Amino acid sequence: MGGDSLDDQVIVLTGAAAGIGRSVTRAFVAEGARVVAVDVSTDVDSLATEYGDRVVPVVADVSRWEGNIAAAAAALDTWGRIDVFVGNAAITDSATALEEIDGDRLTGAFHEVFGVNVLAPLLGVRACLDALVASRGSVVLTGSFASTHAGGGGSLYTASKHAVHGLIRQLAYELAPDVRVNGVAPGVAPTRLKGTSALGQTTADSVLDGTQRALPLQEIAPVSAYDGIFTLLASRRYSAAMTGTLVTADSGLSVRGIAKPGGRVPAIGHEHTEVPAPRA
Ligand SMILES: NC(=O)c1ccc[n+]([C@@H]2O[C@H](COP(=O)([O-])OP(=O)(O)OC[C@H]3O[C@@H](n4cnc5c(N)ncnc54)[C@H](O)[C@@H]3O)[C@@H](O)[C@H]2O)c1
Repeated sequence: MGGDSLDDQVIVLTGAAAGIGRSVTRAFVAEGARVVAVDVSTDVDSLATEYGDRVVPVVADVSRWEGNIAAAAAALDTWGRIDVFVGNAAITDSATALEEIDGDRLTGAFHEVFGVNVLAPLLGVRACLDALVASRGSVVLTGSFASTHAGGGGSLYTASKHAVHGLIRQLAYELAPDVRVNGVAPGVAPTRLKGTSALGQTTADSVLDGTQRALPLQEIAPVSAYDGIFTLLASRRYSAAMTGTLVTADSGLSVRGIAKPGGRVPAIGHEHTEVPAPRA
């Protein structure tokens, strides 16, 4: 990429310090956008060194109203407008099964996961709303395979990502015709999501042993694999007719087979055929 599909749009993006959000920030700047890059981690500050005055970092906790107000204010004070809000920050429950969670920790874990994964995008949209209506802008929320399927997380993460799907649909309805609202649903990306402190978790690898072979496409796509979808949904020019849509990019997980993950994947015990080389 490296075009002008986001020509000077002002974008507020949460969860920008690492993983998918950091990669999308780079892609947005390459497409001509100016980005307020928000994260609870101070690692977000290095984006200003990388991208100069095209990126304004904001260190804030987006599960709190004040953090979202600070992000919206940074965009309005610096550039006077907001065209897109991207709610991407999230934490995981490390795929912990309900029966493995002590009952007295469940409430705390629930509030942590839903605070970042569900409340934060609501707060972010609310904080940016007047500016988004004024610019006839759009919202992009990061969902997940877990927005539509079981087994992509524990019950807290899966319920939270299903809720993100609900937000996309409800907000697309409520904000039409002024603001488009869409989402991206990755399957597996090579990142380390933070866990909940209520369950004593630090971070968890998103890619587990055996994950690659379980995917119909047989490869873990890089974090940059989602850049184009976020860019498409943020672009007035290229997604003017899209709202209420969750775009799935799950390496085929939704069409996985029973005997083998993909029709041309060798059956277990017959792996004489090489797994295809990664796509360039
Ligand atoms: N990695 C995967 O396999 C995968 C799959 C499906 C969906 N997703 C989704 O992709 C999105 C990005 O996750 P990622 O995989 O790049 O993980 P990541 O941990 O690399 O990125 C998430 C970022 O959000 C930030 N964050 C967490 N809590 C925050 C808070 N309260 N306030 C501000 N920032 C906060 C983190 O510091 C981190 O920089 C998430 O919504 C995640 O649910 C990831």
